[in-house]
Formats: sequence, structure tokens, C-alpha cells
Amino acid sequence: MPHLLSEIQRLTHHPITMKSMSMSRMAILRTMFLFSACIGIGFACGDDSSLKEVFRHHFMIGGALNDELVSGKDPQAAALVERHFNSITPENVMKWEHLQPEPGKFTFEAADRVVEFGVKRGMFIVGHTLIWHHQTPSWVFQDSNGKPVDRKTLLKRMKDHISTVVGRYRGKVRGWDVVNEALNEDGSMRQSSWMMVIGEDYVATAFAYAHEADPSAELYYNDFSLENEPKRHGALRLVKDLQARKIRIDGVGTQGHYKLDWPSPAQVEQTIEAFAGLGLGVMITELDVDVLPYDIETGAEISMRTEFRAELNPYPTSLPPDKEQELARRYADLFRVFVKHADKISRVTFWGVYDGRSWLNDWPVRGRTNHPLLFDRSYRPKPAFFAVVQTARKIH
Ligand code: XIL
Repeated sequence: MPHLLSEIQRLTHHPITMKSMSMSRMAILRTMFLFSACIGIGFACGDDSSLKEVFRHHFMIGGALNDELVSGKDPQAAALVERHFNSITPENVMKWEHLQPEPGKFTFEAADRVVEFGVKRGMFIVGHTLIWHHQTPSWVFQDSNGKPVDRKTLLKRMKDHISTVVGRYRGKVRGWDVVNEALNEDGSMRQSSWMMVIGEDYVATAFAYAHEADPSAELYYNDFSLENEPKRHGALRLVKDLQARKIRIDGVGTQGHYKLDWPSPAQVEQTIEAFAGLGLGVMITELDVDVLPYDIETGAEISMRTEFRAELNPYPTSLPPDKEQELARRYADLFRVFVKHADKISRVTFWGVYDGRSWLNDWPVRGRTNHPLLFDRSYRPKPAFFAVVQTARKIH
């Protein structure tokens, strides 16, 4: 028992006294459970490693940050970021609707905060995202009569937005998701307003504008479900087209909104190899593993939504041991692929920091309790965390 207590103490970073024992009995019992769950699946727990340290020879480790964290209202999450991440991506505040909600009216306060947060800590800051069909106000695509805007006007709006935003953070934001989600599942171009008004060359034009605004920034194409062959082929075609036109593109971000059973490690591997084969950097940009059941196939298609039903929310308090272990094994399988191809991967970014604030609690179904990240609702490392750490040490 004394040994177990000191082990729990080490795991939780909380000194255990008689008083705290009675006060936080639930927390302790839960940790004991996690501890045994870890032993059960053969991953060494009680490891207080820092992810960025553990993977320092492999790739950067990043997280998407919300404004609450950045502005000091979630200090425990901020402490996790400082300890584990050397790269950050703003989860929302650099999207068009936040930066330019009305024509010519830029609002930079929240974006400035995230940049300052990263600069102060010497982190690699990623700008997300310049051109996307979602979280872009409808005025962008309309003329003063509410009719679809013409190509010339839209190109001008695109240029103004990109040069103002990229110019403002020149030298501080080191890489930009220039275009996000331009493709359909079958690899064809998504019929977004960008595509319909400007045509397919909106992608190349956006990259050219971004390069002009900060010639030293890295420029990325970012999308989800690139692990599926048809969509991956679409992205390869799109990237090759940019390269043929001598437009700067440094890398491709595969978002990594995964499920327990999709994609297979082989699909992930093929995706990394395919983009690296074009001489591009590869990044996992929005990693999380959805553990909840789904009744529609969404990919990470943000427009998809379904109604809340209790059977779609089976773990409202905590994840049962078998699922916790399944998630740990899943993360280990993924990171084994990332580590194997570390020479091709520059960064692995999680979409969030801890389960309590993951977007997957509200998408595609509002108000569920999801458990997709490495830190739980009490900011504690989960068995999946320890499993990931082990993959760097190659003790499997
Ligand atoms: C999500 C955010 O996490 C949510 O807070 C927001 O309500 C919607 O957008 N692909 C992307 C991200 O590129 O920008 C999305 O982020 C998740 C899917």
C-alpha cells in the first residue's frame, strides 16, 4: 500500500495526505484504476515525461489553443501546453469570421493574444486558416445587393485579407494553412463559393498571395480524410499542379480526425509516403481519436450534424477500462507509424489539449462527452499518453 500511494502521488503530482485522501477519494480511486489499467495493457505508466522532450528528435508536438486558455482563464490547460507542446495553432481566432467579420473591419485582439503567447514561449506558431469555405462570413461572397460577387472583386478581397493578416504576423507566424479543405471525398474540387466564383486557380492564387505577404513563411495545404485513396489522389493532383506552376508550397497537413477503427495504420503510412514523395513536408495537424458511436459517416465534414440521442453518448462520466485500453493501443499504433516516418513529419498537432474542451464534445452531435485526447477532464495523462510516450522509446 505505501508503495502504491507513492506511485499514485507520482502519477498525479499531488501530495497525498490524510486530509486529501478523504477529500479526493474518488480521484485517487480513479488513478488506482488507471494505474492498473496501464499495467494491464503493458504500458509503463507513472511516466511524467514531456511530450515535446520525448519526441524532440522526431517532430514538434503541437496543440490547438482556444482563447480561454490563451487569455489565462484555464491555467491548468496552459500548464499542460507549456510542458508538452512546442508548437501551437489557434483553434478558431484566425479564421476569417474572427479576423474580418465585416468588410475591411479587422479584429486582431484574440489572434494577437495567441501569437504573443507563442512568441513569449518560443513556440512554432501555425496560422489557421486563410481560405476556407467554413467560418467565413457570407458578405465575402456577396455584392452590395446580396448577389454573388464577381471574380475580380473576390480575388481582391482574398488578396486584401491575406496580405493584411499574413503581413501583420510576418516573422512570428512561421507557417500558414493557406487553403483548408478544398476537396470532396472523391478527390474532385469542392464546389465552395471560392471555387464557383474564382475557379480552380483560387488555390494557386491564395498561395501566391500568402508568399508575397511573407516570403519566409511556410505554406501548407490542409485537409481531412486524405487517408482515403480517392481524396488523397485529389490532393496529390492539386499539389502537383502548384508545383508545376512554381508556386511555393512547403507541406501538406493531414488533419488526423481519426476514429478507433479508421484509418488503418497502413493507410496513414501510405498517406505520409505519398506526400513526402513529392518533396513536401508532412504534418499531422488536428489529431484526435473519436471514441463515440456515430450514425452517419461524417469524415470531419463540419457541415454534418446529427441530433443528440442517449445511445450516441455512452460514456457520460468516464471511459470504461476496455475502451481506455483500446484508445491507448490505437494511439500507440498511430505514433509507431509517425515515429517510423519521423524523417518526413515535421509536426504532430493535437486538436485541443484535454478532453473537457475538445470540439468533439459538440460535433457532429451537440452535448456529448467525448474522450479523444491524451489528457482527461482533470488534466491528467491517460493511458493513451503513456502509450504514446513508449513509442518514442521504442519499447514495445
Ligand atoms: C473547429 C473548432 O475546433 C470548433 O471550435 C469550431 O466550432 C469549428 O471548427 N477542421 C478544421 C478546424 O480545419 O478548423 C475545425 O475546428 C475542425 C475541423
